[in-house]
Amino acid sequence: MNSGSSSISGVVEQEGSTTPEKNAVEVLDLVKTFDNGRIKALDGVSFEVPKGQLLVIIGLSGSGKSTLLRHLNGLHLPTEGSTSVLGKDVSSLTRKELRSLRRDVGFVFQQFNIVGRLTCIENVLSGALGRIWGPRLSALMYSKNMRSEAIDQLERVGLADKAWQRTDTLSGGEQQRVAIARTLMQKPQIVLADEPVASLDPEISGQVMDLLVQCCIEDDITVLCSLHQVDLALGWANRLIGLRSGKIVLDTPVDESLSQDDVMVVYQQLDPEGDKTGEYLETFEDSPS
Ligand SMILES: Nc1ncnc2c1ncn2[C@@H]1O[C@H](COP(=O)(O)OP(=O)(O)OP(=O)(O)O)[C@@H](O)[C@H]1O
Ligand SMILES: [Mg+2]
Repeated sequence: MNSGSSSISGVVEQEGSTTPEKNAVEVLDLVKTFDNGRIKALDGVSFEVPKGQLLVIIGLSGSGKSTLLRHLNGLHLPTEGSTSVLGKDVSSLTRKELRSLRRDVGFVFQQFNIVGRLTCIENVLSGALGRIWGPRLSALMYSKNMRSEAIDQLERVGLADKAWQRTDTLSGGEQQRVAIARTLMQKPQIVLADEPVASLDPEISGQVMDLLVQCCIEDDITVLCSLHQVDLALGWANRLIGLRSGKIVLDTPVDESLSQDDVMVVYQQLDPEGDKTGEYLETFEDSPS
């Protein structure tokens, strides 16, 4: 099911790109501590993500996945080390520059972060707010072109017929598809997705992930996504990074030779007996959380 139309290296040629950098993301010796240094969430993390790559980050709960992603749009600042996104050192940006960077970096959350009382089209249109001046209180306050663009994005996620329906009347999978359409409306260069399908059942998870990845490939968007479902990751990722206790313990391209067992090393090493893998898989494959 690997839907990657990108090259073997995972790098997609960016026709007409205005930014000359080869890498979308560069993370160097990143350390993040909380609670006056008592909690070390990230412990010397370094990696680079070429433009167009589809990267999945895996690791047990508490291994640092969300903390890492949050550094890439400036929600966290490094305690030590640096993060560079689209050629910009995130921690040295002014507020204005950070706002501008966030227009290029879309975020998809586990809990969708859409406004339930708004219609689907209003939620999608809100993705364009970074591109226009002034507030918009309803869909009718956006230009006709923008409304038609929003309908196109809803069409891509198969929800054009629900454009004018209140978003909280949709199923969880549909709500996440609205959130994806909103992110695409933003026209980002990078999408950060933090366990985007963790709240959905396994079948819907697969469909929503396929949709997200397919749209990002079509739009030449670099994806960094944390996932608990290793089988999903193996289906479409170009590359897999495994975190354990804030350190990278696996960094591998994904191809036919990579098996689920190879990946389970990220979880096995946690347990001295090396036998927690089955338990872990059951937890995350069987029960939506
Ligand atoms: N704001 C914070 N204050 C204190 N500790 C934090 C904060 N954010 C994260 N941590 C701690 O940092 C570590 C990494 O957390 P993080 O949320 O990045 O893990 P995760 O891999 O995303 O876990 P999960 O799979 O449960 O989402 C954890 O020990 C967590 O408790
Ligand atoms: Mg997390």
